[in-house]
Formats: sequence, structure tokens, C-alpha cells
Amino acid sequence: MSGINDTNEMKKQYGTDQNLNSRILLHRLFSTNKQGWGHWVFENYRLEPGLSILELGCGNAGIWKANAEKIPRGMRLVLSDFSPGMLDAAKANTAAIDSAEYRVIDAQEIPFDSGAFDIVIANHMLYHIPDINKALSEISRILKPDGIFYATTLGKNNLREITDILRDFDDRIDFAQDSVTEAFGLETGGKKIGGYFNTVRVERYPDSLHITQARPLVDYILSSEGNVTEIISGDNIPRFTQYINDLFIKKPFIDVQKDAGIFIATDPDTRQSQ
Ligand SMILES: C[S@@+](CC[C@H](N)C(=O)[O-])C[C@H]1O[C@@H](n2cnc3c(N)ncnc32)[C@H](O)[C@@H]1O
Repeated sequence: MSGINDTNEMKKQYGTDQNLNSRILLHRLFSTNKQGWGHWVFENYRLEPGLSILELGCGNAGIWKANAEKIPRGMRLVLSDFSPGMLDAAKANTAAIDSAEYRVIDAQEIPFDSGAFDIVIANHMLYHIPDINKALSEISRILKPDGIFYATTLGKNNLREITDILRDFDDRIDFAQDSVTEAFGLETGGKKIGGYFNTVRVERYPDSLHITQARPLVDYILSSEGNVTEIISGDNIPRFTQYINDLFIKKPFIDVQKDAGIFIATDPDTRQSQ
């Protein structure tokens, strides 16, 4: 098991939403696609009044907060995460959404009846799960036969330039991008979902980062997974901060590729989830 799907590591990383917020801030400040990830993801959901929806690993529920006015009335919306701290942040962010319920749930063991939901969502979280097949089997089990599963994730070119910058600083640094996309990425996830759903398609969100300030980039990197904070710690932090500052002195911006998208799966294969 690598760090990105080690349950104890994940509980530390996601004890609160602080690390997630540092990472979201870099995207908010410097993304070139002004539609915004959260609005684009929400546009892909087919929501209607009366549907029941379960989100797994909802984090701080930022996407629901950003789209609160567009949520159809009369839906049952269950927001869940295995971290109670994350769920507290989700509650605070969605206080205005009347239909929201909150549950601590591990995606590998979902405490709902078969066929209970019209929609299940698992955004940027399946790569953290020790047994992805168990989670996918549970997801297909709790969906109705005409239900839809949405799962966002990253592709292998995501943040390639940041990976290179870190390697130039210290070649022992593993920024975990490769382990994320190997576990469940845009290139690998379709086959995994295809074991439990008869139809799967992927949509990619066109975007990149045009970073013009050092501080948010340093904060992003120091909130990351992999072994970044083992290597950049203590006395190394000022040296690393100086290294990033110097990059912006040489050139006033750093352009970085982003590669993220959403899987949309239908027709759950119930034979696989019994
Ligand atoms: C990268 S964050 C994504 C949060 C949110 N879905 C988003 O897209 O902003 C991953 C989330 O998955 C949660 N998580 C990790 N492993 C989990 C598991 N086995 N079951 C449920 N949630 C899990 C973490 O607590 C964290 O909130």
C-alpha cells in the first residue's frame, strides 16, 4: 500500500480541510479556465427534483456550496466522508442547503440498501481507497438500475511542471502524482469502473495554471501528499521557499499543465456487486 491509500496517512492528511484548502487556493488564484472546476463538474451532473444522491469522500463540499442556487428542490442529498473533521467543514459550507444530510462513511462499506440511490458521486477520492474494487462493487450495489455514477480524478500529465521543479530541488521527492494516476486516474480508471458498469465515458476539463506568486505555490506543495513534507521539513523549509522565490526572480510566472476530468458511468452490473 503506498502513502496515497494508506488509511492512517489519509486520516492525518484529511483530519481537517486545511490541506485541501491550500491546494484549492492555488487553483482558484491561477487557473486559466475561468469557468471554474466546481461549476464545470456540477454542469455534468444530471440532477432532477426528487432524486436521491450520495456523495462519498465529499471533503468540504465546496462544489455544492459553489452551486447551491442551482440545486433542484426536493432532492435527498447525503454528503459523506470517512473523516469527521471534513464532514464538519462540509456542514459549515452547506448550511444553506435544506436537503443535505451528513454521514461518516468509508466508501468500502456503504451502510445503505441495494438500489437506494439515483446518483452516487466520488470526486478525487477513489485513488485513496485501499480496496477500490470493494468500493466500486458497493457503489454499483446501492445504485438503482437506471442510476448514474460520477467520479472525478486526475490524468498523468497533471502538474507535470511542479513535479519537475520538486525533482530538481531534491530527487528523492515523490509528489504522488504517479501513484494517484496509477491507482485511479483518467487513463486507468475507466477499466476499473468498467468491471462494475456496462457504460463508462470520460470528459476532460481544459485548464492550466499561470502562477505568478511564490507563496501560494509553496503552501500548495507543503500541503501535498507523497513524501514532500518528510523531505521539506525543519531547516529545509526556508531553503525550499528561497528556491521557489528564485524561480520567480528568473521568470515572473510558471505555467503548469492541468489534467482532470470526470467519469460518467451508467447501467450498473448487478452480477458484480452481489
Ligand atoms: C482529495 S479529497 C477530495 C474531496 C472532495 N471530494 C473534492 O473533490 O474536493 C479526498 C477526500 O476523500 C476522503 N476519503 C479518503 N478515503 C476515504 C474512504 N475510504 N472513504 C470515504 N472517504 C474517504 C478524505 O477524507 C477526503 O475528504
